[in-house]
Amino acid sequence: MHQIKTFNAIAPEGMERLEKEKYAINESDQPEGIILRSKKLQETDLPDSVLGIARAGTGVNNIPVDACTEKGIVVFNTPGANANAVKELVLTSLLMSVRPVVQGINWAQELTGPDISEQAEAHKKQFAGRELEGKKLGVIGLGSIGAMVANDAYRLGMEVMGYDPYVSVDTAWSISRRVQRAQDISEIFTTCDFITVHVPLQEKTFHLIGQKEIAMMKNSAHLLNFSRSEIVDNHAVVEAINNNELAGFTTDFADEQLLHHDHITVLPHLGASTEEAETNSAKMAVRTLKRFIETGVIKRS
Ligand code: MLT
Repeated sequence: MHQIKTFNAIAPEGMERLEKEKYAINESDQPEGIILRSKKLQETDLPDSVLGIARAGTGVNNIPVDACTEKGIVVFNTPGANANAVKELVLTSLLMSVRPVVQGINWAQELTGPDISEQAEAHKKQFAGRELEGKKLGVIGLGSIGAMVANDAYRLGMEVMGYDPYVSVDTAWSISRRVQRAQDISEIFTTCDFITVHVPLQEKTFHLIGQKEIAMMKNSAHLLNFSRSEIVDNHAVVEAINNNELAGFTTDFADEQLLHHDHITVLPHLGASTEEAETNSAKMAVRTLKRFIETGVIKRS
């Protein structure tokens, strides 16, 4: 019987599959595989028995990958499985950055009296917004999420420019013929009205967007971060917004200095939080880990 350890719950569809296949879950301190969601794994969580770890999610920064490599443990993630969920939240955030939807809803909730419809008509001007159509979106990173965001933003009528040093021109073009290719990353910073970043957190992407990069952006630009908090220097963002050098920031990562700021929207890491994404990621993680444990094949499935 194969032994699997889980650290935090993945969607039930994943666990049910393991149970159906008669895997023993959390029954031994010497598991062959670990399956997890967002729990931060320590080196001490890795007994010698572990052959593979599957994360039901895209980023693997909660796993000590270097330690795993040294121990010969294969680490899998589930890229693409939650891409649609993240894409939909990025598009929601883009739309909300130009339409004060939340402010309008909150204001309407407070209306009282017999003439609320007249009051609404009289005050609606304060919630006037702008449109995305015709504005330019820069997408940094054209992996599964970035490419989907680029395609759908184009369908919303936006002009879209992409930058990704690791995607060949051919691949980028087969992902989307609609994305203009930036010559270099600074072209995104200097020309776009909205900039969204979709890269993994690595040494070279830490503070990929900091003071220097923000200074290149239009004062009217809006920046979005749905990758990892550390990719953007949040302190530099707050300074730039306070100095009217950046119009707004939406991030999926809570950070105290960003809270209670009119031009900053903070979400509690909701990008992949849909039933569908949780299920897709759990099933993909289970399939991949199961195949690896049973056959030794290192391939996502
Ligand atoms: C991911 O890495 O898959 C996303 O950030 C979603 C998540 O971890 O919840």
